[in-house]
Amino acid sequence: MSNTVRFGVSINDDLLCKFDNLIDQRSYANRSEAIRDLIRKELVKREWAKNEEVVGVITLLYDHHQRNLSGNLTRLQHHQHDLIISTTHIHLDGDNCLELLAVKGKGKEVEHLASHLIGTKGVKHGELTATSTGKKID
Ligand code: NI
Repeated sequence: MSNTVRFGVSINDDLLCKFDNLIDQRSYANRSEAIRDLIRKELVKREWAKNEEVVGVITLLYDHHQRNLSGNLTRLQHHQHDLIISTTHIHLDGDNCLELLAVKGKGKEVEHLASHLIGTKGVKHGELTATSTGKKID
């Protein structure tokens, strides 16, 4: 059981103005909701280091003509198949592929897999979006 606590924040007016713009862009209901979301994101990052389970998506954009790239990405995924729940491959145009990997597992391992895939030579853009389930993994 947790209670809601109010606290005051001192902030530079320029920074607050930028923060309010961010709140508008992301359609947060109010500053409190935005602050809670930012805090949660930071806590999730920390939890990854604490061996908790995370779920998320790895997004990869690459040119499939790039020598050995498709094979390298497939090899990495087979090697870590226990972390990958499902994959979707979209042939965007004549050259580009978009790959979406739904992942679930120990935060550290998911992050490790994502950095290998994203760091593979020829990957134009890659991102890991994930959140902690709160479940501990030994
Ligand atoms: Ni493709």
